[in-house]
Amino acid sequence: MTSAAPGANADTAEMLTARQNVLDAGLFCDLDALLAEIFTNRHRIVEVGAGTGHHLAKVLYAHRGSQGLASDVSKAAIRRAARAHPRMAAVVADTWAGLPIRTSYVDAVLCVFAPRNRDEFARIIRPDGILVVVTPLPDHLHQLRERTGMIGIQPHKHDELVASLTSRFSVVSHEEVRATISLGAATASDAVAMGPSAHHVSSTRVEAMPVTSAVEVTVLSPR
Ligand SMILES: C[S@@+](CC[C@H](N)C(=O)[O-])C[C@H]1O[C@@H](n2cnc3c(N)ncnc32)[C@H](O)[C@@H]1O
Repeated sequence: MTSAAPGANADTAEMLTARQNVLDAGLFCDLDALLAEIFTNRHRIVEVGAGTGHHLAKVLYAHRGSQGLASDVSKAAIRRAARAHPRMAAVVADTWAGLPIRTSYVDAVLCVFAPRNRDEFARIIRPDGILVVVTPLPDHLHQLRERTGMIGIQPHKHDELVASLTSRFSVVSHEEVRATISLGAATASDAVAMGPSAHHVSSTRVEAMPVTSAVEVTVLSPR
């Protein structure tokens, strides 16, 4: 069962366990290394739709002077994120309803595969802060989609992303990050089960296979 506001798209405890197993297998290692670089000298960092808090925890391990706050609409996610790093606080919050954070208070917001509330992000980020958005590229997890019929990635995501944020943010940089690693049968099956696509396939069980993560990292600054 998911504990969340009605209508919110919260991850369930089962999805979170599957996601944690895939993250622990190292599918997003290169992404985490790039994020650590991007967040250099950013001391107050919020991750919205943080799930298990994995990506924010990696950033905090890389930067001793930084403090993190993980927010997510899923109570199950926030229970995990609260234990992800000693310098990370965690709060249940629906990104669409507003974040419990003071205006112009944070140096950076990180949003990985999660809902984006442009005006709320613009409210909480300092004028010299950054918004970092990670979105999937069309070939993200393509081996699993070909094998199971999981939902595909919509084309032109980057253009849509920029258009949706442009009234409040300007693009500073964007970079593609790809990595292919061999996953055993259990972890490859978790990669199917960790996302909403799990509801649209007849079975989440697959054999061992190489799996590609392919994402775009867009860094923006407030206008
Ligand atoms: C695909 S998962 C990504 C989790 C994490 N960012 C990661 O990459 O491991 C999307 C997350 O967004 C959360 N979420 C969905 N709708 C939300 C909302 N309206 N407000 C806050 N979080 C939300 C889900 O509960 C889930 O944890």
